[in-house]
Amino acid sequence: MTGTRRIEIVPSVLAGDFTRLGDEVAAMEKAGADRIQWDVMDGHFVPNLTFGPDVIAACRPHAEVLFEAHLMVERPDDLLPRYVDAGCGLIIIHAETAPHLHRTLGGVRELGARAAVALNPATPIDAVLHVLELCDMVLVMTVNPGFGGQAYITGMEAKIAALAAAIARGGHDCDIEVDGGISPATVGGAAAAGANVLVSGSALYADPEGLEHAVSELRQRATDAAQSAGAVEAAEAAPR
Ligand code: DX5
Repeated sequence: MTGTRRIEIVPSVLAGDFTRLGDEVAAMEKAGADRIQWDVMDGHFVPNLTFGPDVIAACRPHAEVLFEAHLMVERPDDLLPRYVDAGCGLIIIHAETAPHLHRTLGGVRELGARAAVALNPATPIDAVLHVLELCDMVLVMTVNPGFGGQAYITGMEAKIAALAAAIARGGHDCDIEVDGGISPATVGGAAAAGANVLVSGSALYADPEGLEHAVSELRQRATDAAQSAGAVEAAEAAPR
């Protein structure tokens, strides 16, 4: 990786209270979230159904941090402009759903948003090696997508490390995000392997001391692990 990558903590709205989503995103921002992830599911690519662009647009005025749209949908090209219009500054496309990934990523950037690719646990990093110059981030799924509260797949750490090495070799300016089962017990392994953007849902809401404590605990554990592993140059916590 080139330069210093900041450790960023990203709450997943999927774990929030759906009866008051605007208040939830405001609370996540107040708790120190660096970004907020919207898990968009279409009931086809994954066996679950979640947020349309109008829901996200309604919540946009309630927080200023970057909204990520994690598109777990078939035919993302049809939908992604609506998520950019809804206020998502970063669009995550699953490699498994985009036969013309190079064109799709270029299209996201043409719309003025940052572009990222997500890889299911079984999908090798080869799927992104030829489009890294078009990626602001690669998301390595640490669970099979579709639901919160699943167990972290430790075997993904070797994949994260291989991806980090490929990004460094190419001199790319590209974050590595992980998503699924990220908690105080698992965040260190992912950060030590090279991930600097950490998504968490159920673990943040399970902390008896509240969201703010949960966010800073994940940040501290990730920063300590990344620094002691030398995974990234002098990993630092995002300035608050
Ligand atoms: C799963 C989603 C994740 C999930 C994370 O498909 O992409 O963002 O909400 O939730 P936890 O942290 O509970 O695994």
